[in-house]
Amino acid sequence: DNSKLQVAIDGPASAGKSTVAKLVATRFSYIYCDTGAMYRSTTLKAIRNNLPLDDEQVILKMLNDTEITFEPGEKQQKVFLDGNEVTNDIRQEDVTNNVSTVASLGAVRAELVERQQEIAAKGGIVMDGRDIGTTVLPNAEVKIFLIASVEERADRRFKDNEEKGIHVPLEQLKKEIEERDYKDSHREVSPLTKAADAIEIDTTSMSIDQVVDAISDEINKKLSL
Ligand code: CDP
Ligand code: CDP
Repeated sequence: DNSKLQVAIDGPASAGKSTVAKLVATRFSYIYCDTGAMYRSTTLKAIRNNLPLDDEQVILKMLNDTEITFEPGEKQQKVFLDGNEVTNDIRQEDVTNNVSTVASLGAVRAELVERQQEIAAKGGIVMDGRDIGTTVLPNAEVKIFLIASVEERADRRFKDNEEKGIHVPLEQLKKEIEERDYKDSHREVSPLTKAADAIEIDTTSMSIDQVVDAISDEINKKLSL
């Protein structure tokens, strides 16, 4: 089916990936898959079970016995871990600050990448993460690399938090984002990098709608070929 493309959206923390990916998926009636939620759910379960987060075999064994599923939600997609909703729990600070450690485990990545490729095989898809254009969907017709200044990204996260009644100082958020970007970009297995054929969009002074329109234009270009 020529109208069902693969759209890969990668970039650093809080660049707006999941927000715009979901809107783009809705616009084209494609499936949306938030791969960060899969790494976050894995991390949450490991923390809850007091498992050593840097032990590849222990985490892989846990993961092989773990079900992570999605359901459409209003503002964001709902995430379920072994049948229980964890949409909000996976955004907690302890998960955010430990997810890069779990995401650096090669065997864990291999298992989650396989699950992501199975989801993508079902049809038109918009998938966001760190390694989608490079590793998960290397043949994606549209590859986008979203960036924004770290100040702007910390500010976005700050506003998200305040809306939820979570108070973390702006400076701390900026530091956490920088540390996570560093770890994600420097790990051995599929680090965060821009695919050679990805289109970079700097969203620092763009609205959500402008970003969604820019990505939609790229999809429409491919659809009209
Ligand atoms: O939304 P936010 O930018 O905070 O991050 P996320 O997309 O929820 O991803 C959380 C973490 O999962 C990232 O910091 C990476 O460590 C990891 N991740 C990854 O390694 N590969 C992906 N494809 C997606 C996420
Ligand atoms: O998935 P990722 O971590 O890249 O970002 P996100 O979870 O979508 O969070 C981005 C936040 O920035 C959301 O609160 C958006 O409303 C806001 N935002 C955006 O995504 N894009 C813009 N151009 C402006 C603001």
